[in-house]
Amino acid sequence: MLNRAKFLFATLSLVLWLDAGTSLAQQPPQQSSKHEQAQQKSQDPWWKHAVIYEIYPRSFQDSNGDGVGDINGITSRLDYIHDLGIDAIWISPMYPSPLIDFGYDISDYTAIDPLYGTLADFDHLVSEAKKRNIRVIMDFVPNHTSDQHPWFKESRSSRSNPKRDWYIWRDGNAMGQPPNNWQSWFGHSAWKLDPATNQYYYHHFYTEQPDLNWRNPQVRKAMYDAMRFWLKRGVAGFRIDAVSRLFEDPNLHDDPILPGKNAYGDPNIAHKYTDNLPEVHEVLREMRKVVNAYPGNPVMISEADEPNIAELAKMYGAKNDEVQLPMDFQIADVNKLSAPDFRRLLNEIDRNAVGGQPHYFFSNHDQPRQWDRYGDGVHNDQIAKLMAALLLATRATPLMYYGEELGMRTTEPARKEDVQDPIGKIGWPEEKGRDGERTPMQWDASTNAGFSASQRPWLPVPPSASIYNVVAESQDPKSILAFYKRLLALRRNEPALRDGRYLPLNQEDTNVLSFLRKEPGRGEAILVVLNMSAEPRTIKFDLSAHGVKGGSANPLLAAPEIGAESTQLNHFSVPAFGVFIGSVD
Ligand code: NOJ
Repeated sequence: MLNRAKFLFATLSLVLWLDAGTSLAQQPPQQSSKHEQAQQKSQDPWWKHAVIYEIYPRSFQDSNGDGVGDINGITSRLDYIHDLGIDAIWISPMYPSPLIDFGYDISDYTAIDPLYGTLADFDHLVSEAKKRNIRVIMDFVPNHTSDQHPWFKESRSSRSNPKRDWYIWRDGNAMGQPPNNWQSWFGHSAWKLDPATNQYYYHHFYTEQPDLNWRNPQVRKAMYDAMRFWLKRGVAGFRIDAVSRLFEDPNLHDDPILPGKNAYGDPNIAHKYTDNLPEVHEVLREMRKVVNAYPGNPVMISEADEPNIAELAKMYGAKNDEVQLPMDFQIADVNKLSAPDFRRLLNEIDRNAVGGQPHYFFSNHDQPRQWDRYGDGVHNDQIAKLMAALLLATRATPLMYYGEELGMRTTEPARKEDVQDPIGKIGWPEEKGRDGERTPMQWDASTNAGFSASQRPWLPVPPSASIYNVVAESQDPKSILAFYKRLLALRRNEPALRDGRYLPLNQEDTNVLSFLRKEPGRGEAILVVLNMSAEPRTIKFDLSAHGVKGGSANPLLAAPEIGAESTQLNHFSVPAFGVFIGSVD
């Protein structure tokens, strides 16, 4: 979080090449293998084959003209989401909230903020989504509540209040200063003095977001009950916010100071005593038990910007009993087109010890959009397709962010007075906040891009909306949207892309990232070649070690045009920033 940071489409018959090596003598080998594969797939939980799409509800579709997106707006766009090829939507928080952090400051965990609609609207969304085979994933924010939550109001009312221990309260130090040097992720001290009781409370994020005390069993019970409330309403799981911040060192050790200052003018520190404490895993195991008690394999997705893949892999749990899908910020934040960097990270997570499912994404509501971060300013649209292929052709559950399929770009506020996100106000001009990646969805070229009938949507619609929008791009077979749609359809229809192993190729190549997706045994294989450089490249593949005997690859999807003809593996040319996805045998 906040590391602020052609086309040729041939339809391939969906023949599943079956593993001949079956041991069941009484049945014809092919039948047995087919049976095993079908069984295996039916045992796979849905989230292993799903494509998940994040919706920032304020910005997706406004149905009532107040300038802010809402639940009925999302429901009205479910056909678009379905036609795109999405299996599940994760919706950022819609709970009642004073909206200091636009919903990540919750004042009631079991209700819907009237700004977004009603519980009945939510139930309607879930049932309409279900009709289209789309699951709904809630955002869940366990680390902190709003300071307007009744629990905090009680907690702050007196030192002896029964809810006092639901939050982290401490005395100041001997100098009358905050208890220690811990800093908020959003700037300045993480402690706020509350004059009513003359103690400080701890807030990892804004001062209006006091941290809950997860060492208190009553807090755990209340939060697990909130999860059950939504599971009973049919949600397919949770994206769990800021999980690594749940615990702080009870002895209040100062965090180590690092050289330099951050965007807020504070000394840099390592959040050693407030991040990734081991007790986090105990809570994740408990949460997993909560979701496991409900039918339909509900999923837990964790937000945690782990410092390396080894730490990230711990989120699966030693027995794969914690988070099914830990968001991979390492890959999201490579921030340059580097074949070696992506290869190393993909290899590392793909081989994690517990066999956890990788979960990749590039953009979200906290990160500048990928179009800007990976684009070179000249070939951004082609690079958008390259990034789409990296996301959707690797072995992982991919997570998209609304509008990435259009090539939406980050559009930061030009003036401090236009900023909505408080961190942009605290850190201006170095830190302009996250408004730029939260601008309204670009549906068409009409006023406000079809997002809202209001005179003034909560954030302005970027000028790029006149060209980059759903209607315009749906009519252009070379658009970014058309590429995403083809790729999503290919991923759905090609067993090797959906389920196949990830086999890195040409690992010394510094420009071109190549890999094979292959079903076990003699299964179908698909070659993916991504030229991450601004020069055309000619490379060679020897795939014999992977059981591929043929000398050519047949394109299934390529951008820009590589041609409809099959391509020789020993003399394989790929254009600058080119994508090739093709079958080999
Ligand atoms: C992570 C969320 O993604 C971000 O938007 C929010 O500001 C912080 N957690 C605090 O809840």
